Order: sequence, then structure tokens, then C-alpha cells
Amino acid sequence: MTDTPATTAADGPGGPSASAPPAASRVAVTGAHGKLGRAVVAHLRETGLDVLALDRWGGDPREVEGEFLAIDLTDYGQVIEALSGSVDEHEAVDAVVHLAAIPAPGMTTNAATYANNSAATYNVFAASRALGIRRVVWASSETVLGLPFDTPPPYAPVDEEYPPRPESTYSLNKTLEEELARQFCRWQPGLVCVGLRFSNVMDVEDYAQFPSFDADPQLRRWNLWGYIDARDGAQAVERGLRHDVPGADVFVIANHDTVMSRSSAELMAQVYPDVPVTKELGEHETLLGIDKARRVLGYDPQHSWRDHV
Ligand SMILES: NC(=O)c1ccc[n+]([C@@H]2O[C@H](COP(=O)([O-])OP(=O)(O)OC[C@H]3O[C@@H](n4cnc5c(N)ncnc54)[C@H](O)[C@@H]3O)[C@@H](O)[C@H]2O)c1
Repeated sequence: MTDTPATTAADGPGGPSASAPPAASRVAVTGAHGKLGRAVVAHLRETGLDVLALDRWGGDPREVEGEFLAIDLTDYGQVIEALSGSVDEHEAVDAVVHLAAIPAPGMTTNAATYANNSAATYNVFAASRALGIRRVVWASSETVLGLPFDTPPPYAPVDEEYPPRPESTYSLNKTLEEELARQFCRWQPGLVCVGLRFSNVMDVEDYAQFPSFDADPQLRRWNLWGYIDARDGAQAVERGLRHDVPGADVFVIANHDTVMSRSSAELMAQVYPDVPVTKELGEHETLLGIDKARRVLGYDPQHSWRDHV
């Protein structure tokens, strides 16, 4: 299988001549107050990027460290205003990292999850197109791989090569966002749209609970025992912003290991004995395959829960 983007610039009216956009210098990050967003904003600022943090967080924006703008992304006018530099005191951006969402199934009603997440993502994609912003990195989700795997995965490690298998409204919306990105890239040759299918986001303080997963392999079967350290998630975002191939593409983003002490081969043999394992697995190697992210984006996770517990 190749790493050819799902839709390349060659598919669009601009044809093969569509070139990669210039490097990002000023980036809007939506969902900036969230678990992943906080790590992403801190990391991108550390790398020297100028970051406009966006969230609907209801506190006093003057108490937030760094540039921040309160926004409801379901309102297209607000999104256009924010990204175009039309809000007093805030300049236009040349790239967008879109993380804002209700981040899981079952947190509110299905219809409310769909309404919020689909409107926010459509508005961010459409406003980017209207404003000529040519770099968009956004949070897709591991859920499109078929979580909670009541239906076993087709093979393991899972990867980007089989069609999405959403099993919830949240995941259905993430699946539709991936299609939205493909079509926006067809309309706008030269747009680089990078979808990151993040695993379950963890901060260092979450690692204390990891040893409790060991007793029962069924406990974390639902995402093949994967996770993503928020700092490595931020690294993936940074790499996504540097990706230079016009078109839409998606990448599984997880840490290099599982949340478990027993080996990955043992977990598969015990829980999914009929699922083909397609490679020789390292002892704790992730079953959420990150080979494509490593190869194409240069993603290289640096953290492990094992360093903290
Ligand atoms: N947390 C996970 O385990 C996980 C796993 C895979 C993918 N993701 C995705 O990663 C992204 C970030 O997740 P997170 O864990 O940081 O979630 P989070 O809930 O901690 O942060 C999301 C932020 O988005 C903001 N937001 C939501 N709707 C908004 C709107 N309409 N307008 C403005 N702001 C809005 C919220 O206020 C919140 O601060 C989400 O897209 C989520 O679906 C998360």
C-alpha cells in the first residue's frame, strides 16, 4: 500500500502544478483550553510560532496567559472574524489547528454532539477556504478505526488502510470530517489538510492509574490498549503543520507502546485470537499502527507512561 493522499492536488483543477503553501508563522488553535489544546498551544509557542488560542471557555480572557480569544465556533461569522484578523487586537492567521469538539461519545446527546462538532468543523474548513488559509491540521479520532472493537478489527496493528468503521455518532462525525477535508482539498488545490486520528489523550498525572489496567485485558480492549501522551500529540500537530503535500491525508497518532505490562502479542492471542497480526510485534508495541505517521510526517513519540510509574 502507498501513502498517497486520499485526494491530491493532481485531482483538482490546479492539477499537479499546485504547490505546497509557505511555512506557517501564525496559527490559530481551536479547543485551546482543552486537554490536548493546552499541550499543543504550549508546544507550538515553544517552537516559536505565533499562536492565537481559541475556545468557548467562559472565564475571563484577561486571566489567560498568552493571546486568547473566546469564540463559539458554531457561528460562522465569529470564525471568519477570528481567522481573518477582523477582531480588534488580533491579527490574521496563516494556518489553523482545529481541536475543538465535544471529545467523546455519550458526553451529551448524540444530536448535540453532532450539531456542535459538525458545525464547528465545517465553519473552520469553510472559513479557511474563504480566507485562502492553506494549512489545516485537525483532530480526527482513533474511534474511526472501529472502536470499541465489539466487531474485531480486520487485522492488527490497525492502520489507515481500511475504510472507517464508526460505531457512534461522535465517530460518524469524525468520519464525515475526513470526507469534508477531501472535498475541500479537491476544491482548493494547494490546501494541505492533515487529519490526526488521536488515541486516548493522557497527561502525566493520568499515568498513576495505568497499573490498574493490567489485571483485566478486557478493560482497555476498546482501543487496543492504546494512548497518546498530550506532549506527543502536540509533536504530531507540529509535524502536521510542516507537512508539504497538498491534499487531504489522515494518520493514526498513538504512543509507541500500549498501556499494559503483558506483551502485545499475548494481548492479541488472548483477546482477539482470530485477528491476523501482520507484523512481528515489539514487546509492548502499539497495536494502533503509527508507521505511516513516522514515515510521512516524521512523527517520533518521545514519552511513555513507563517513565512515570
Ligand atoms: N481526549 C481524547 O481521548 C481524544 C481522543 C481522540 C480524539 N480526540 C479529539 O481531540 C480533540 C481535543 O480533545 P480534548 O481531549 O482536548 O477535548 P477537551 O474537551 O479537553 O477540549 C475540547 C475543547 O473544545 C472546546 N469547544 C468545544 N466546542 C466548541 C465550540 N463550539 N466553540 C469553541 N470551542 C469549543 C471546549 O470548550 C474544550 O475546551 C477533539 O477534537 C477530540 O474529539 C480526543
